[in-house]
Amino acid sequence: MVIFAIETSCDETAATLVKITKKTFRVLSSIVSSQVKLHAGWGGVVPNLAAREHLKNLVPIVERLMKKTKVSPQEIDLIATTKGPGLIPALLVGNNFSKTLSWVWKKPLLGINHIEGHIYSNFIREFESSDVKFPALCLIVSGGHTQLILMKDHLTYKIIGQTLDDAAGEAFDKTARILGLGYPGGPAISAKAAKFKVKSSKFKVNLPRPMINSKDFNFSFSGLKTAVLYTTKKYPKLLKNKDFIGEVCQEFQQSVVDVLIYKTIAAAKKLKPKTIMLAGGVSANGELRKQLRKAIKSTFPNTKYLIPDTKYSVDNAVMIAAAAGYRWKNMTLRQKGDALNNWKSIESNANLKLI
Ligand code: KG4
Ligand code: ZN
Repeated sequence: MVIFAIETSCDETAATLVKITKKTFRVLSSIVSSQVKLHAGWGGVVPNLAAREHLKNLVPIVERLMKKTKVSPQEIDLIATTKGPGLIPALLVGNNFSKTLSWVWKKPLLGINHIEGHIYSNFIREFESSDVKFPALCLIVSGGHTQLILMKDHLTYKIIGQTLDDAAGEAFDKTARILGLGYPGGPAISAKAAKFKVKSSKFKVNLPRPMINSKDFNFSFSGLKTAVLYTTKKYPKLLKNKDFIGEVCQEFQQSVVDVLIYKTIAAAKKLKPKTIMLAGGVSANGELRKQLRKAIKSTFPNTKYLIPDTKYSVDNAVMIAAAAGYRWKNMTLRQKGDALNNWKSIESNANLKLI
């Protein structure tokens, strides 16, 4: 089947056409138009500006997609659209656009949860693979979410723990702003951290590992960002010192990685998953990918470790198509027929819950 998907929950306008068979998942084309430059000047995403850009971008992107793939509307079997969580002005643009196409093209429409999309970024290569065994433990780390989720099977979720304040990606973005590194903070901080050699530490920067010893699987990252703020306030002149910035970036990143890995391993010890998955924008972080792999390999050598291709870590429409593919597969004939009318009922929901 051919799935057409749209993702506009934040500052990326994304569209894709994918072809799914029983065994294969083929991305015919995936377009992501990033608005990073526009929002960088504001130090973060401005919801109304994001919506305006989605409105400007969507038609040209979809026109390009159709031309490039030579897929006609008649050949599309299903339309998928991210209905939440996300920025409401941004979601409204993509949802209204998808609903209009569903009505005009007379195609079924599914509204997909953005977090479910991130989880299914791990199934883009593994679609229908019998290798992925349940239960699976998912660590979701993005700009808006940090959650440990247990999946007993496809499309069933139980939140085991989550952040009590800032998400991991948000902490990267806010810390980068304090350090004058611009937006988005994750790639900027990880680039500076990569250049820093721990052995050459001059400043002995020491940041906390928040909640690492709490007995639950929750997280907290706002104190870590505040700790960076106090460190820089103590030595304001050092903000111009490259070595100091590199050292803070390395210690900050390691603190986030330490807490994420510690809690994931602790949750896995208790829940004994057969698969551990990482997903969300922060899953593009090289140290997190590498160090989590090492921790899993040494603690649970028989547990499968899945990470998305880095181009599917950050927001994209392919992950939305993948989630829609699994949802469709699990629907009855009647539900599939009803999906032709979903354009009448799907609502954008900024705080949409996974369960
Ligand atoms: O999933 P995503 O694209 O959007 C949301 O759903 O929020 O995640 C964006 C977040 C941003 O906070 C960004 O700084 C972070 O992912 N990010 C990274 C890296 N690349 C993106 N964080 C750490 N290291 C990276 N390499
Ligand atoms: Zn996301």
